[in-house]
This record gives sequence, C-alpha cells and structure tokens, in this order.
Amino acid sequence: MSKKILILTGGARHGGNSEKMADAFMKGAKAAGHEVVRYDAGFKNIKGCIFCETCYKLGDNKACSHDEVFNELAPYYEWADSLVIVTPLYWYTYTAQIKAALDKYYALMVAKRPQPIREVYLITCGAGKEDYKYDAIINTHELIAKDRNWENRGVYHVNGVFQKGDIEQSELDELEKIGRNF
Ligand SMILES: Cc1cc2nc3c(=O)[nH]c(=O)nc-3n(C[C@H](O)[C@H](O)[C@H](O)COP(=O)(O)O)c2cc1C
Repeated sequence: MSKKILILTGGARHGGNSEKMADAFMKGAKAAGHEVVRYDAGFKNIKGCIFCETCYKLGDNKACSHDEVFNELAPYYEWADSLVIVTPLYWYTYTAQIKAALDKYYALMVAKRPQPIREVYLITCGAGKEDYKYDAIINTHELIAKDRNWENRGVYHVNGVFQKGDIEQSELDELEKIGRNF
C-alpha cells in the first residue's frame, strides 16, 4: 500500500552523512511507489515553541503565530501518515532544528488539527562508536512514539561517522533497501 511519508531531516551540512542517509532511504521509498515529501529542517530556522497556545488562532490557517518558517512545515504534518526523522546525533539527541520542528508539532495538538501520522522511524548517525551513545535518542524516540500512539518502526543508527563521506556505501545500500520495504 502506498504511504504518504514525511522525511524530516536535521543535518546542516550539504553532502553530510545524514543527508546521504536521507537520500538513500528516499530513493528506496520512492522506488516502492510511496509519496514522499522531504523537509530539510536543518537548513531552516524554525524557532522553539514558546507555549503561548495561540496556534492556528490568528486565521489564514497559520499554525504558529510567531514563526512563518514553521508554517511551511505544518501542512505536511497534516498530510503524512508516516514520519521518518533523519538526524545526526548532537549531544546525544536530535539536532536543535529537529527538536524545534518536533516542539512545534504541539500546535496541531492544541488546535485539534488532523493528525494522520500513524508510525515513526528514526535514522541517525554519530561520531560515537559505542552503542550506548545512542541510548538517549532511542529512548526519546520510543517515548514520543508512545506519547502520540504512533507505531514505533524502530531506529537505524550508524556509529563512528564524523567527517563528511565517512558513511559507507554498504550502509546507504541498506537504507535504500529499508526505504523500498518500508
Ligand atoms: C554540535 C555537534 C554535536 C555533536 N554531538 C555528538 C554526540 O553527542 N555524539 C556523537 O556521537 N557525535 C556527535 N557529533 C558528531 C556528528 O553526529 C557526526 O559528525 C555526524 O556524522 C554529522 O552528520 P552530518 O555529516 O550529516 O552533518 C556532534 C557534532 C556537532 C557539530
């Protein structure tokens, strides 16, 4: 069955490891016939949520009263049935750009907007070689899935990649395959 997949990326380096991982997954998912929208949050400037709870109250379907950038992303949150987050590990968790994009999902909850996302998958990479260094992001991912009642499709992490180009082709091939079977 064809899915509507929102790929939310958090890397901020063109040609970086996480960008290549997102490209590979997306290639596979598209080849499988899924509809894919990719939003590269790492190159945007979504602000953090300030808990004003005026979401969608100013008319014009504006999700956030203070952040035009988030208003680009919000319609895709209302469109997707699958959310795939691709982020480098920064301080053992998402990049700040992904965190801001996830904080702002709260707008849809406050305003009781359509929330068709049913499943979430996480793709990440970091310089750290040991698996325990990915525990915090995996735990956060699990808690978010549980909180939102999204099916947790799991986590794919590539350890020990620091410089651009450190990611191996075999990992990218695997991600393409995962995208194809998603
Ligand atoms: C601000 C910052 C924080 C980072 N924090 C971590 C970390 O906590 N753990 C880790 O393993 N790698 C950390 N890294 C390394 C990146 O996760 C790693 O270089 C990754 O491959 C970068 O992905 P990119 O090529 O898509 O930019 C950090 C890098 C930066 C710039």
